[in-house]
Amino acid sequence: MTTDGLEGVVVADTQLSDVDGERGRLVVRGHDVEALALANDFEALCALLWTGSLPSAREHAELRARLGRARVRAFERLPRLGDALQSADGMEALRASLAHLRASEIAARELHGEVTAAVAVFAAAWARVRRGAAPLAPDPELGHAADYLRMASSQGTDPARSRALDAYLVTAADHGMNASTFTARVVASTDSDPVSAVVAAVGALKGPRHGGAPGPVLAMLDAIGSPEHAAAWIAAELAAGRRIMGMGHRVYRVRDPRAAVLERAVERLRAAGLRSDRLDLARAVEAVAVASLGERRPERRLAANVEFYTAVILDAIGLAQEQFSPTFAAARVAGWLAHIDEQARGGRLIRPSSRYVGPQPETPVAA
Ligand code: COA
Repeated sequence: MTTDGLEGVVVADTQLSDVDGERGRLVVRGHDVEALALANDFEALCALLWTGSLPSAREHAELRARLGRARVRAFERLPRLGDALQSADGMEALRASLAHLRASEIAARELHGEVTAAVAVFAAAWARVRRGAAPLAPDPELGHAADYLRMASSQGTDPARSRALDAYLVTAADHGMNASTFTARVVASTDSDPVSAVVAAVGALKGPRHGGAPGPVLAMLDAIGSPEHAAAWIAAELAAGRRIMGMGHRVYRVRDPRAAVLERAVERLRAAGLRSDRLDLARAVEAVAVASLGERRPERRLAANVEFYTAVILDAIGLAQEQFSPTFAAARVAGWLAHIDEQARGGRLIRPSSRYVGPQPETPVAA
């Protein structure tokens, strides 16, 4: 019997994160994602994922400085990336640029920081190159989120926007056996190297059914324009056989808890004085989409997933639509690296089976 899309198949024991699809709960190493996003920055989440516990103040400062130095080294690599950053697609640029890293030339204890920093620096540099501007050098004194925002957006940075990006990076850093994490673990299970595993994961994340969704969510909000147009627009999409981006999830049968974390983070941005015109529209469109999808398929509950409010928060902090997926990669790389480690420590080669349904040779096998 085949299990379509491997739904429900358990492929690993993990200490890293647990997705409870019925109750809408995400636990990362024993902490609810809501609590993590409120109280921690990306560095703390990296420490939690990579070491198993939240860092002390000293450990946090060390990791922050280590990531800062690694961003500087990643920036120094830019002239050696050939035409990798010339692509019109940010994920293509990220895949091509990360492929230049050589795991064999990076000390094992530096690897997590080097790869995590490279994703942020290459993604930010791509966005600048795409606009015809020279990449901005990192500021190693800044936190990772603040520096990414400074390098990647044309608006500089401020504490409220950096905190919002931290909330996003923390929320998006790990999420059970999602498609890109599975990809990374498959590559790691062959005893290949971590850079190869991350490059493969970037390829999986690129697709619109996974990390490619938030860009189209923003396009949808723009196309709808105002709440009174939502019902007709969604009805037309569904009638044309298209999916509503940012809705539905393989595991969640209720609203994705990460959607609520990001929605609240956008509210905090507004309270800090930043405009987010799209929050009210997004809420209205979500309500219409849930109702329309529910009428169509009452037995399969489809609710907003993380990507719905990813679009709203990344737009509110000044990132352009085409930067959404690369920014997702800048968060998820922390999870990929933790999973790669976990797989390398104990996992067997991941090698499932297939059921052959093609033709058989006409001549019987000789006895
Ligand atoms: N809009 C409309 N219909 C949807 C839908 C959506 N967003 N998500 C699922 N469905 C429908 C499918 O068309 C399918 O209906 P059918 O059986 O009549 O063909 C049914 O629900 C089951 O879909 P399936 O593709 O088997 O679900 P899945 O568990 O494999 O898919 C997603 C999960 C995330 C790929 C899917 O919900 C989706 O494509 N969502 C939009 C993209 C998105 O937001 N991705 C980000 C995920 S975090």
